[in-house]
Amino acid sequence: MAASGQDRSLRDRLARRQVYIRGKDGKDYVLRPIQPSDAPSLIRGYDAMSERGKWFRMLHAVPHLTDDMAREFCAPDPQTECCVVIDGRDDLADEILGGARVAGLGQGKAAEFSVSLRPEARGLGLARQALETVIDVAREAGNTEVWGLIARQNTAMLKLAERVGFQNKRDLDDISLVRATIAL
Ligand SMILES: CC(C)(COP(=O)(O)OP(=O)(O)OC[C@H]1O[C@@H](n2cnc3c(N)ncnc32)[C@H](O)[C@@H]1OP(=O)(O)O)[C@@H](O)C(=O)NCCC(=O)NCCS
Repeated sequence: MAASGQDRSLRDRLARRQVYIRGKDGKDYVLRPIQPSDAPSLIRGYDAMSERGKWFRMLHAVPHLTDDMAREFCAPDPQTECCVVIDGRDDLADEILGGARVAGLGQGKAAEFSVSLRPEARGLGLARQALETVIDVAREAGNTEVWGLIARQNTAMLKLAERVGFQNKRDLDDISLVRATIAL
C-alpha cells in the first residue's frame, strides 16, 4: 500500500515539495531542498545582504560568493547534510529567499546549523520555520543535538535562537561568539 503523506519522512515530503510555511504576511511559501540550479539566485541573495549581514552569516569577511562556492553550497551531501530553501513569491518569484542548513546528520551526533534570509524577506517568521524544519530533520536522523556559533552582536539571530529553544552561552574559545545549542 503506497505511503500516505504523513507516513513519509520529512525529508521525503520536502523533496516532493509537500512542505509549506506561512509568513506573517499570510502567504504560503514552499520549503524544499536546495538544488544545483539555485546557485545563481544564491549568489544574488548573498549580494543583497549588508556587509554586516554577510559577516554575521559567515563569521569571516566574504564579500561575494564565487560560482564554485555557490555550486558547492547547492550540492550538499545527502548522507550528512540537509539544506532547505524558501521559494520566493511575487517580485521575488524567480529567487530563493534564503533558508536553513544542518551539517553532521547521524545517529547520536551533534549537527551544526546555519540560517539566512534575504533582507526583503525578513521579519515574516520564515527563518524560524526553516530552522525548526532542519532541526526536525536532524531529530529524524537520530541526532542528539543541534548547535551553532553566533556573533555576539547578532541580536536578531540570538533572539531567533532563543525563540526556537536554543540555550545561548558565551563561547569559551572565542568571547566574540555565542554557542547556541538545543538538545533533541
Ligand atoms: C537572523 C535572521 C536569519 C532572522 O531572519 P528573520 O526572517 O528576521 O527571522 P524571523 O522572522 O523568522 O524571526 C523569528 C524570531 O527571531 C527574532 N528576531 C528576528 N529578527 C529580530 C530582530 N531584528 N530583533 C529582535 N528579534 C528578532 C524574533 O524573536 C522573531 O520572533 P517573532 O516571530 O516573535 O517575531 C536574519 O536576520 C538574517 O538572515 N541575518 C543575516 C545572516 C545571519 O545573521 N544568519 C545567522 C548566522 S548564525
